[in-house]
Amino acid sequence: MGLPADQIEDLRSLMEDWKNELLVYKFALDQMDTKFSIISQEYNLIHGHNPIEHTKSRVKSFESLINKLVRKGCDITTSAAKEHIHDIAGLRIVCSFMSDIYNMVEVLKQHEDIKILKVKDYIKNPKPNGYRSLHLIVEVPVYLTNRVEHAKVEIQIRTIAMDFWASLEHKIYYKLNNEVPNQLTDELKEAADIANYLDEKMFHIRSKVDQ
Ligand code: GTP
Ligand code: MG
Repeated sequence: MGLPADQIEDLRSLMEDWKNELLVYKFALDQMDTKFSIISQEYNLIHGHNPIEHTKSRVKSFESLINKLVRKGCDITTSAAKEHIHDIAGLRIVCSFMSDIYNMVEVLKQHEDIKILKVKDYIKNPKPNGYRSLHLIVEVPVYLTNRVEHAKVEIQIRTIAMDFWASLEHKIYYKLNNEVPNQLTDELKEAADIANYLDEKMFHIRSKVDQ
C-alpha cells in the first residue's frame, strides 16, 4: 500500500516546504515531555513511587505521513495532514502499574491547556488480537513567535507488560510482512493474557504493601 518509491522521491521536494509547518509537532511533544516529567517527579514525591518507567516520542516520518494521507484518500497538503492525521506527533508513556495509567489521565484532565479530544480504552476493551493500551488524542497550544497553533498529539499509555507484548507483536508483523500464521496469532493472544495476568498480580502485590 502507499505510493511507489519513485513518486515518494518526487514528493521529497515538498518536504522542505512542510518542514517548518510540521515543526509545531516537535514543539508540542517537547511540551508534553516536560509535562509528564513534572507529573512523574511530583507523583513520586507524594506517592513514593515513580509512575512512569519511560517515555518515547516521535514525529511521524515524512514518508509515513504521505503514505497515510494517500491511504486515507486525503489531499497531499499540510492542512489535510493537520486535520486528518492525528498521530503526526506520538508520545508513548510506559507506566509501572495499571492503576498509574488511569492516574496519569486523571492528572492530565486537570491541565487546562490540554484538550482531550478522544479516548480509546483498549485496556477495558482489548483488541481481538490481545492488544491493550490506553490511547488519547489531545490538542496542545504551541506558542510560536507570532501566533498560537493547536497541535494534536496521540498519547499511548501502557504498562511495561503491555509494551513488551506490543513491541514483539509489531516486530512479528513487520518481519512476516503481515502474513502471520494462525498458530502464532494464537500464541500471541495467549501471551497477551499472561501479560494481563502479570499486570493484575503486580498490582495486587503492590496494593498489599501499600496498606
Ligand atoms: P491508525 O493510526 O491509522 O492505526 O489509527 P486507528 O484509528 O486505527 O488508531 P488506534 O488508536 O487503533 O491505533 C493507533 C496506534 O496504536 C497504532 O499506530 C499502533 O502504534 C498502536 N496499535 C494499535 N493497535 C495495535 C496492535 O494491534 N498491535 C500493536 N503492536 N500496536 C497497535
Ligand atoms: Mg498510528
